Amino acid sequence: MTVRVGVLGATGAVGQRLIQQIDPHPDFELAALTASSASTGKSYREAAKWRVDSPIPEDVADMTVVATDPDEVPDDVDLLFSSLPSSVGEAVEPEFIEAGYVMSSNSSNFRTDEDIPLTIPEVNADHLGLIEVQRDERGWDGALVKNPNCSTITMVPPLAALDEAFGLTDVRVSTLQAVSGAGYSGVTSMEIIDNAIPHIGGEEKKMETESRKLLGEFDGAEVQWNDAEVAASCNRIPTLDGHLENVWADTAEDVTVEEAAEALREYPSIDLPSSPDQLIKVFEEPDRPQPRLDRNQSDGMGIAVGGIQETENGLQFNCLAHNTIRGAAGASVLNGELLLEEGYL
Ligand SMILES: NC(=O)c1ccc[n+]([C@@H]2O[C@H](COP(=O)([O-])OP(=O)(O)OC[C@H]3O[C@@H](n4cnc5c(N)ncnc54)[C@H](OP(=O)(O)O)[C@@H]3O)[C@@H](O)[C@H]2O)c1
Repeated sequence: MTVRVGVLGATGAVGQRLIQQIDPHPDFELAALTASSASTGKSYREAAKWRVDSPIPEDVADMTVVATDPDEVPDDVDLLFSSLPSSVGEAVEPEFIEAGYVMSSNSSNFRTDEDIPLTIPEVNADHLGLIEVQRDERGWDGALVKNPNCSTITMVPPLAALDEAFGLTDVRVSTLQAVSGAGYSGVTSMEIIDNAIPHIGGEEKKMETESRKLLGEFDGAEVQWNDAEVAASCNRIPTLDGHLENVWADTAEDVTVEEAAEALREYPSIDLPSSPDQLIKVFEEPDRPQPRLDRNQSDGMGIAVGGIQETENGLQFNCLAHNTIRGAAGASVLNGELLLEEGYL
């Protein structure tokens, strides 16, 4: 069965990546594209300044962009992907869910709400059960699932592997984040070339809260957030794609570099079309992973880890993921695949 899907915010940085992921997808067929009033009524080719590193799919280029309004999206669309600015998502996403649509969203609004599943399918697919809670509490006919922020997705699978094996107590992380994470209008060349910006508004709090929810336990009614203390420092650097992060993870049990590498390599993936066979690749070379060399492994859906060292209270390591694929569009598509697999479509 092919599922007819729509993309809200289809012309933006994440929207274009969504189209790149969905167009060849075995289970999804693109049926609706929305954006702001500046794009409405135009062909997608005209409305989107296509910047993705593969040609714009011909059949998509000729589609007409419609308003981001439930009345404008055909009723036979079963699944929506949202890559709207969070302020817009906060206002319009509930309108779509109330109208009965099932949505997999990138936008940061509602991510830490108690009844909204925030999922990385390889880590916490069971949290999808919150959909029943949200339907009960909000009276929604549709369903809303969120993927986390791009910098959070990069570190959480390695943290989940270490938590499962050795117990996490404290996490500190410092990021080196690519410019695509800010969207097309995010940082200007005059700001970022020959520079690093030691502030990304709201990002630290997102990493500190979303990671604890993702690593939490779902008891059938609510998610008990993980007790680990998480502290983040977020920095923008002049790479195009790929967030690199330096992580210090304190553990309840003593752990050697070899034991950590084994736990990371053996952390299981999930059997969904977009999920890599091996979720976490561990590099032996101390200078890897690097954004330019390693962001595209497993079609941009892999998590790379390297530089593992023992510390007084646990471990230090570096991790990397492609921020607009694994950290955004690919993450949403994977959640869409999970919704299909679990019978929500
Ligand atoms: N970039 C990343 O790596 C990344 C990672 C994770 C999550 N996210 C999240 O994903 C979302 C999108 O980010 P982005 O980087 O793709 O942003 P972006 O490049 O600025 O794109 C925003 C999209 O939303 C549309 N839009 C803007 N205002 C609208 C309105 N009032 N009504 C309807 N549509 C509107 C835009 O349409 P027009 O072209 O017509 O203006 C465009 O399609 C954000 O919530 C962001 O936080 C981004």
